[in-house]
Order: sequence, then C-alpha cells, then structure tokens
Amino acid sequence: MDTFQGKTVLITGASTGIGRALALELAQRGAQLALNARDADRLGETAGRCAAAGTAVLAVPGDVTRPEDCRAMVARTVERFRTLDALVNNAGMTMWARFDALTDLAPLERLLAVNYLGAAYTTAAALPYLKNSRGLIVAVASIAGLTGVPERTGYAASKHALVGFCESLRIELRGSGVDVTIVAPDFVKSELHKGALGADGRPLGVSPMDEPHIMTSEQCARLIVRAMSRRQRLLITSRRGRLGRWARLVAPALVDRIAARAIRLRR
Ligand SMILES: NC(=O)c1ccc[n+]([C@@H]2O[C@H](COP(=O)([O-])OP(=O)(O)OC[C@H]3O[C@@H](n4cnc5c(N)ncnc54)[C@H](OP(=O)(O)O)[C@@H]3O)[C@@H](O)[C@H]2O)c1
Repeated sequence: MDTFQGKTVLITGASTGIGRALALELAQRGAQLALNARDADRLGETAGRCAAAGTAVLAVPGDVTRPEDCRAMVARTVERFRTLDALVNNAGMTMWARFDALTDLAPLERLLAVNYLGAAYTTAAALPYLKNSRGLIVAVASIAGLTGVPERTGYAASKHALVGFCESLRIELRGSGVDVTIVAPDFVKSELHKGALGADGRPLGVSPMDEPHIMTSEQCARLIVRAMSRRQRLLITSRRGRLGRWARLVAPALVDRIAARAIRLRR
C-alpha cells in the first residue's frame, strides 16, 4: 500500500491510545476511515478530529466480542465507502496480576474474547471485501504474543492466539493478494495499563507504568503506518523486542530475565 490517499481503512479500538493515533495519522494521509470502539462518545471525539483533517470518517460503535457487531461494522463501512482496503484489528485489553494471585478466572476468558476472538470475528466479516481489493489485514498483537511475560498470563495467551491465527491465515491467503501484518508493540503510553484487570478481575484504575519512559501512541502509530505501507509481515517496535526474538532461540533464559526486568521496572 504505497499510498493511503482514498483508501478505506477500518480500525477497531480507535477511540483512544494507539488506535486513535493511527486514525489521526491515516487521516493526515488522506485515508477514508471507519472507526470502531464501544464508547460512542469517545469514538465520536476521535472521528471529529479525523474529519477536521479533511477526510471522510464513519464511526461504527460496537463490541468486537459480539460477532453481530463485527458483521455490522464491516457492512456499514462497505455501504458507505463501497470498498475496504485495510482492516486494523487493534481493540484490546490487558491484565496485571500473577496467575497464582487471581481470585477470579473470568478475566482469562474476557482477554481471549476481546484480543483474539474479536479480531477473528472482524476478519471473517471483512475478508471477502479485502480479497476484492487485494487488501491488508493488520493485527496489533504485542511482544507478549511472541514471548512470555510475567503478570500477563491471560494477556500473553490471547496475543499468542492472535499471532497464531494471523500466521496461519497468511499462509491460507497466499496468492489472494491479501497480506497480513502483525504488529508487536513494546510498552506504549495509552489508556491500556490503567484499565488492566487486577487479581480481583477489576480494572486497576491507575497506570502502574513508568509512563515518561515508554513510547507514545503517536510514535507507535507512525511505525505501524510505515509497516502498512510496506505490507510488512512483522513489526516489533523496540530494540529489546527485536533482540529477544533471536536471543530466544539460543538463550531463552536470558529472554525470561529481560521480560521479568521490564515488568519490575515497569518500562
Ligand atoms: N499500550 C501498550 O503498552 C501496548 C503494548 C502492546 C500491545 N498493545 C495493544 O495495542 C492495542 C491498542 O491498545 P492501547 O494501548 O491503545 O489501549 P487503549 O488506549 O486502552 O485502547 C484500547 C481501545 O480498544 C477499545 N476496546 C476495548 N475493548 C473493546 C471491545 N470489546 N470492542 C471494541 N473496542 C474495544 C477501547 O475503546 P472502548 O473501551 O470504548 O471500547 C479503545 O479504543 C491493544 O490490542 C493492546 O493489546 C498495547
């Protein structure tokens, strides 16, 4: 995708954080945008900011854990723009608790439903249109989709599921013209961490991250746009993430230590 001018991009989880920053970045580049999240008011604010950049925007509120919402958001996008060139499966949530401290196991199901099934449902609805346009599927996974991370068992499991889904789908789509880009961000400043589910299954309410020392959503969005334009297979946003990918093959215990340290330092 060498240019985004006039291309239609559907982004889930577009009301805050990485999804919002990506929408704003693509709006500057002239893409037509369909933006999804559950909170219609916050989504409307993002849509308004994108429209102010002079591009056509459609807000499609809905919950990605509901297959009917995913089908409806794709149908409304195609009804409005007639085509779909890229789907960005970005909606997600996280946790922050050791597995042996969980007093409620429901968050494990919730994380899978949002982070993996939500992407699968939306992709299923979008695939016929993406085949027509020889388009692009983007999945915003995580470093935790490539390696284990403490305090993140359910999150890492859901992101590994998402990565496995995308890697398999990519092979099935060979020759169709549809490409699959997996994004594995390291820590990013957003609303994600304060909404992380704690040991009791409730959101933490405050971010435990060392926020000044982590990448901004805007920086992450620019990297994603570059990866999309190159139809890149995999984007890992940090040097330690890229290093870890290779180090894991020869020194897996070292990678475990790096992951443990990142959580201890919260950056
Ligand atoms: N921030 C990081 O450190 C980091 C690192 C690696 C990967 N990621 C991944 O990046 C993606 C974006 O996260 P973020 O950091 O930008 O977090 P964020 O600011 O919390 O944004 C999450 C977005 O997803 C939406 N969302 C949540 N549940 C949804 C659902 N069931 N249906 C539809 N939309 C839903 C939220 O809006 P509503 O609540 O209104 O629905 C919001 O727009 C996630 O997949 C996350 O796992 C983030």
